[in-house]
Amino acid sequence: MPTEFDEYSAEGYSKLLEDPIRGRFARSDFFFERKLVLMREICERYGMKTESVTWLDVGCGEGTLLKMGRRYFRDVAGCDVSAGMIQHCDGLNVLQQDSPRQIPFKDGSFDLVTAICVYHHVDIDDRAALTSEISRVLKSKGIFCVIEHNPLNPVARLIVRRSPIDSRAHLLSARKVRRLARSARMEVLVTRYFLFFPERFYSKMAGAEAKLSAVPLGGQYGVFCQKA
Ligand SMILES: C[S@@+](CC[C@H](N)C(=O)[O-])C[C@H]1O[C@@H](n2cnc3c(N)ncnc32)[C@H](O)[C@@H]1O
Repeated sequence: MPTEFDEYSAEGYSKLLEDPIRGRFARSDFFFERKLVLMREICERYGMKTESVTWLDVGCGEGTLLKMGRRYFRDVAGCDVSAGMIQHCDGLNVLQQDSPRQIPFKDGSFDLVTAICVYHHVDIDDRAALTSEISRVLKSKGIFCVIEHNPLNPVARLIVRRSPIDSRAHLLSARKVRRLARSARMEVLVTRYFLFFPERFYSKMAGAEAKLSAVPLGGQYGVFCQKA
């Protein structure tokens, strides 16, 4: 059964992402680089050396983050409901999901599971089941990381409103993500807000961004949880 993102991949996913407002904020790679820095920092802070970490990216899309990040991790894998998106994941261990509620990997397989800009595309009725599946494939003490557009940031909301890819999306707050994780028996470790400043100011403003990371106004947020 074709999924929403099969349509987007057929039209050219990265072309559909192009937007002058988004482009003025940062290059696409900058968004991915910032996520990787955050993920690695939180893993290290909670005692995981990333070079020994097995990482699953759920909703990996075309696998861009996995390709950029795999050199830091021991082993990486991905899964996604869209056959069209994962056909770009050449050279990666990526499986197609038969269902938006099921993950095609064994129990307790991964130290880190990420879902990056995925949940706002998941039907509201499927979100709890997907989160339970994520908990199932995590090892004990494994970390779950959700990164999402922040609905409290007006620029993020504007970019989402203008994007054809987000026409059917439902943004969710960090609070909702934390609730989903707790319902799947995970403990919330930390929530971090980032993307306060455009890329061109970032080199001078990195310190300020770090200080603002608890202020719920950054363009995106990361919620990090741990399986009991
Ligand atoms: C906006 S794209 C993000 C792709 C990638 N994570 C990235 O950051 O480039 C959202 C992806 O989530 C996938 N997706 C939507 N619902 C899903 C679900 N229930 N399980 C797994 N993937 C899902 C879509 O097929 C799509 O590839």
